[in-house]
Amino acid sequence: MEYTEKVMDHFLNPRNVRKIEDANAIAEVGNATCGDIIKLYLKITADGIIEDISFQTFGCGAAIATSSMTTEMVKGKHIDEAISLTREQVADELGGLPANKMHCSNLAADALHKAIKEYKAKNGLK
Ligand code: FES
Repeated sequence: MEYTEKVMDHFLNPRNVRKIEDANAIAEVGNATCGDIIKLYLKITADGIIEDISFQTFGCGAAIATSSMTTEMVKGKHIDEAISLTREQVADELGGLPANKMHCSNLAADALHKAIKEYKAKNGLK
């Protein structure tokens, strides 16, 4: 399977690539096999809405495209909804990923889950 046009678009023009200086949730996740790394920044409001989200990914094209798509899919959502986002949903939204590249979408989804879990723990939320 080739990369879809949507994957290529998010790889070549990734959305939300920057550092959020006043982020209140940050997570870094690496893939031990390929060495690729994502750093995800979230700005979460007091009532749990993801007001802003950005990423910096040092990785393959699929990792960059899925990171970009992940930020678009959860921006404006409540953290309780965002935490249930799966890598399959991200890949589906991109029109699919080649089977040998599915693991690349773990990076963004895992970083999102980690950031929200840590944010909840830090703020005494369940
Ligand atoms: S090859 Fe490492 S995340 Fe894709």
